[in-house]
Amino acid sequence: MNGGYGAATLSMKRDPLNIKQTGSEFPLILGRDVSGVVMECGLDVKYFKEGDEVWAAIPPWKQGSLAEFVVLSANEVSRKPKSLSHAEAAAVPYVAATAWSALVNTGGLAKDNCAKKRILILGGSGGVGTFSIQMLKAWGAHVTVTCSQNAEQLVRGLGADHVVDYTAGPVEVPLGALEKFDLILDNVGGATEQWALGLLKPWSGAKYITLVTPFLQNTDLLGIADGMLQTGVTVATKALKHLTKGVHYRWGFFAPNGPALDDISEMVDAGQIRAVVEEQFPFSQVPQAFQKVEEGHARGKTVVQISRGDGDDS
Ligand SMILES: NC(=O)c1ccc[n+]([C@@H]2O[C@H](COP(=O)([O-])OP(=O)(O)OC[C@H]3O[C@@H](n4cnc5c(N)ncnc54)[C@H](OP(=O)(O)O)[C@@H]3O)[C@@H](O)[C@H]2O)c1
Repeated sequence: MNGGYGAATLSMKRDPLNIKQTGSEFPLILGRDVSGVVMECGLDVKYFKEGDEVWAAIPPWKQGSLAEFVVLSANEVSRKPKSLSHAEAAAVPYVAATAWSALVNTGGLAKDNCAKKRILILGGSGGVGTFSIQMLKAWGAHVTVTCSQNAEQLVRGLGADHVVDYTAGPVEVPLGALEKFDLILDNVGGATEQWALGLLKPWSGAKYITLVTPFLQNTDLLGIADGMLQTGVTVATKALKHLTKGVHYRWGFFAPNGPALDDISEMVDAGQIRAVVEEQFPFSQVPQAFQKVEEGHARGKTVVQISRGDGDDS
């Protein structure tokens, strides 16, 4: 299926003349989110047709979205929410698919089992955090968030029940004074896992899920086979260590998921989730967009607009 055009977060335009069929990953096209219009469908594709407005998160093994055309499998694609422009829609799929993979597939959360759950999001002001707050609130969870003081208004506006400023001192102190949690989503990593698992309700199936893992670093350093082996040993050792204390330790990973985006699309159109776009750049300013992302301190997502779609004034 050929993807369309529109806005995309952080990608680069493909130059067809430079693509050599050598198996090399270069030229590398960055960007995992896309929102656009279907240009062409494969013969087996029944659910989509030419002209459909769609959004998707692109798998890591495929070329990215900073391009006029993107080729995807039908199960990676979903109909874009009608209430969002392409630029807004392009801010959602990657963080949504990551949050879904971590919270739903790994964490076991769902819309009908969150009502009495206390969730802690470490690092709530970035892309994954701002999406996760909204989805969990729509499902009825109680959500506590850590972020910088100047992001408090943003995360409260997205529904966070309790906000802790991590810049005011060791954040584990105020968090330790709160009732314990059923699930922690860690978007920060580093030293957090030394104290965060102690904030979970023991022997109740409570889970700590971190998105910050050494997986890529291990495969870069050791190659795919040894890197994956090392990664497996590390996660198994940590999971076992924490299991003896009555809590579950897990790693979360982005996974493309068209059907999950269908559910999220409905939540967006129902007004339960909004796109959090911090800044938009035209395609001619892709370097500036990357520079901005590299500086950190994200407040939602940075979007690159590749081309204007019909009826889209973004
Ligand atoms: N495993 C996977 O497949 C996968 C997929 C997606 C993302 N990730 C990782 O998950 C993490 C979150 O992703 P993201 O897209 O949400 O990142 P992001 O958009 O860059 O947001 C990170 C946020 O955390 C805040 N922050 C930094 N240090 C903090 C701390 N100590 N306590 C609380 N908040 C802090 C930052 O703002 P301030 O600095 O201003 O406080 C920023 O708002 C990243 O490390 C990313 O690499 C992993």
